[in-house]
Amino acid sequence: MKGIIFNIAERVVTDRWGAETWDLLLDRAGLVGAYSALGTYPDEQLVAIVEAAADALEVSVADVLRVVGRDGFVHLAGRYPDITARFTSAREVLLDLDGVIHPQVKALNPEAIVPEFEAARDGDTVVLRYTSRRGLCHLAEGLAAGAADTHGETVTITQPSCRLVGDDACILHITFITPDGDG
Ligand code: HEM
Repeated sequence: MKGIIFNIAERVVTDRWGAETWDLLLDRAGLVGAYSALGTYPDEQLVAIVEAAADALEVSVADVLRVVGRDGFVHLAGRYPDITARFTSAREVLLDLDGVIHPQVKALNPEAIVPEFEAARDGDTVVLRYTSRRGLCHLAEGLAAGAADTHGETVTITQPSCRLVGDDACILHITFITPDGDG
């Protein structure tokens, strides 16, 4: 996983709970930290940090990932202004993840291993089929929520099917409560 994702997790934890909490999580995860945005680090290190956070906060790993995604989206998007500037709604962001956003991330950082998102519209709902060996579908839920926040939209997110509970695929339903004006 690229260091930028660790940087964003650090930013979210620090903003919510303070820098000493991030240090404590690294300590509990048995890690030194010092992640550079363009470096690549073992996925297991992110998992260890998230598990340490879930333990310390007495919440589920899924909830930690949701918070990191939701609070972190604005910071992640801010690191790629050339990619994100063109988007005026969360719906567009979600529909263009596979066609535009992640391929451009990959073009800029060839070492990045980006997830796949097959996207479809069903009325007010964007249906995303998430495929990644990393199993970070709850991070995806959080990032989708963060995209909605960033564009002043309200969504509800469910995952009627999830590989982590034995289903064949992770399918996210992001339903827009507020219209985004593009019909
Ligand atoms: C719009 C701006 C976005 C940018 C610039 C961006 C960029 C990135 C980058 C740099 C990574 C790390 C890849 C690696 O470490 O190899 C990543 C991973 C990821 N992104 Fe995005 N992303 C964006 C939006 C989203 C949204 C809206 C979602 C969810 C709906 C999403 C879901 C994910 C997930 C779940 C991962 C973790 C890797 C995995 O699951 O395999 N991203 N993204």
